[in-house]
Amino acid sequence: MPTYRPSASPARQNANYGKGVASVGADVLTGPELAQEIRDVFASPRYRAPLLPQVALEVHQLSRDPRAGIPEVVRLLERDPMLAADVLRIASSAAYASGSPPRSLDEAAARMGLNAIRDVVFQAALSSKVFRAKEHQSTMVALQRHSVAVATATRVVAARTAVPLEHAFLFGLLHDVGLAGILIVLAERHPESRLEHILTELSALHQEAGGVMMAAWALPDELRWLVQAHHQASIGGYVHPLLACGVVGHHLVAELGFGLSPTSDTSLDETNLSELRAAADAIGVDGDRMVLLAREVGARLEGAA
Ligand SMILES: [Fe+2]
Ligand SMILES: [Fe+2]
Repeated sequence: MPTYRPSASPARQNANYGKGVASVGADVLTGPELAQEIRDVFASPRYRAPLLPQVALEVHQLSRDPRAGIPEVVRLLERDPMLAADVLRIASSAAYASGSPPRSLDEAAARMGLNAIRDVVFQAALSSKVFRAKEHQSTMVALQRHSVAVATATRVVAARTAVPLEHAFLFGLLHDVGLAGILIVLAERHPESRLEHILTELSALHQEAGGVMMAAWALPDELRWLVQAHHQASIGGYVHPLLACGVVGHHLVAELGFGLSPTSDTSLDETNLSELRAAADAIGVDGDRMVLLAREVGARLEGAA
């Protein structure tokens, strides 16, 4: 029978064995360190937001010009055939086309009106240029679905109040754009890291990052303020009606299964209960109205799915 003979210990083979200093590499960051690095990236003058198609930004400017009409928007869109094709595809989906799908951009724009066609242009632009990071594809897909759902719900809630509808959809669509921006930064600098690693800091961080991106795109200040504060009902101590609609809309889509929750006990994007109550009170949404709104939003989202 072979006899077991232990080999000489490493310490006996090498006198220096075990005397080195071992520590976790400096490239392994704790959650707070990673969050600080991301905060620094967005605060740096060198930060470059993902580029939105120039045509989308010009369509937005045009939609604010009282002299502009549908033909000008269509002419602008025709300068970017890929974006135009995406716009027509979205405008033909069940969410927008109640009867037969539009056969051309002119027809889509004429049926929808200037603000709605601008919203669709942004939906197409964000989907092709911002909600993209192959290391985080499943989170980006969930984020895109969540953003369109919140946009739809915010518009439904705003339509039931006296809140002007002009910015409602776009605010909902852009509200979490900071999460997309953070994912893009993570993919570039720490592809192995995920949003869950910075959960404690994520709420403040994605609202700040969203504000930086909105400023880079030179979108209206009001939209930037809303995006920067979208998990609360007030700005500067006053309830902002569109923020309140957004908070209620956000709650409804989470209830309907369109939230950002990778696991049942983890949410990447939660509004606390006191803000929800303040928002619902401010726009007169009691328990019964919340149920009716949930039904209406659910029907819209089902039609859009
Ligand atoms: Fe959200
Ligand atoms: Fe959010």
